[in-house]
Amino acid sequence: MEEYRIAVIPGDGIGPEVMDEAVRTLNAAAKKDGTFSFHFDTFPWGCEYYLKNGEMMPADALDTLKAYDAILLGAVGFPGVPDHISLRDLLLKIRHGFDEYINVRPVKLLPGAPCPLAGAKPEDIDMIFIRENSEGEYYGTGSWLYRDTPQEVVIQDSVFSRKGCERVIRYAFDLARKEKKSLTSISKGNALNYSMVFWDQIFEEVGKDYPDVEKKHLLVDAASMFMVKDPKRFGIVVTSNLFGDILTDLGAAISGGMGLAAGANLNPDRTFPSMFEPIHGSAPDIAGQGIANPLASVWSAAQLLEFLGHKDQADRALEAIATLLREHRDLTPDMGGTASTSECGKAIEALMLA
Ligand code: NAD
Ligand code: IPM
Ligand code: MN
Repeated sequence: MEEYRIAVIPGDGIGPEVMDEAVRTLNAAAKKDGTFSFHFDTFPWGCEYYLKNGEMMPADALDTLKAYDAILLGAVGFPGVPDHISLRDLLLKIRHGFDEYINVRPVKLLPGAPCPLAGAKPEDIDMIFIRENSEGEYYGTGSWLYRDTPQEVVIQDSVFSRKGCERVIRYAFDLARKEKKSLTSISKGNALNYSMVFWDQIFEEVGKDYPDVEKKHLLVDAASMFMVKDPKRFGIVVTSNLFGDILTDLGAAISGGMGLAAGANLNPDRTFPSMFEPIHGSAPDIAGQGIANPLASVWSAAQLLEFLGHKDQADRALEAIATLLREHRDLTPDMGGTASTSECGKAIEALMLA
């Protein structure tokens, strides 16, 4: 029997609360399947760890994580530790260090999920965002000159490499071909006269290898507008790191909310472990109350199952989420229900085991 070794980083705020339910889902999938099992090791890294140890995770954390088949992450960040420290030194360190250059974020409105768009039907909102996840606006270098003087200047580098753009755009084209959907590139070449002109050029170049894929291009401002006014026009979407971050919160808002939005940080080469997480943060405003929606985390567990080659179990996890929404039961308050985080997770488990 195959045993997968999973590193679990629950993190901060609602992270540990939703993580329990992702683990419950994975164990249920393994039990039902019977051909594989999971071994979980949990790492207490995050803001509390930082306050005790002066670092978000140990210096050799990546060496430790390298040995695992995959990583599950809850959420990171909490008042008391500056966000640029907590996120840079943990989440982004793992994404970058393990070259998880693809961020897959489905934006899919399931029947029964709340949607603020008047008249939108589930079939109207069914897209997959492929967000560049290793460089771009998140490269993380820059300079802070003449600090604390009236001449103060801050420069934040934005780095777009040929390799970095090509690989994410090619990944998106391959997915569009496989899913028989259009591919929309979202950029901003009219203002960002180096980075985004380059991005657009590479989209054109790589696109020549995919004559069968319908190609579309939108400026990010218009894309935001169309996601609200006409979401049907999007199938597969490829965009830069920052634009992908912002647009997928908008995507979450139109497809059920932050409590339902999942993301996979993939190293498709499988040189390093990939990391699976809900796209929401640590939600300090509701942390500790047992009311966080675990379905985003459960959905990310489904992405993990698929990445490990268990698409049938991944589909069952998604179907379990769809069942709760369709039957409007065992849902947390953000979905209009009264269930606690663990009640919702246990309902998923029961459906997985049925
Ligand atoms: P957030 O996603 O944590 O919360 C935004 C809003 O959505 C809040 O009102 C919150 O209650 C709600 N929400 C989020 N997840 C929910 C869930 N599962 N169920 C019900 N409601 C949910 O974003 P924020 O408030 O901007 O950030 C809080 C902290 O999280 C910050 O430190 C931020 O840097 C960090 N953050 C971390 C990640 C991550 O670890 N992947 C992602 C985003 C933000
Ligand atoms: C996300 C988050 C992160 C990002 C933050 C916490 C660094 O917002 O995963 O969407 O911007 O990538
Ligand atoms: Mn985000």
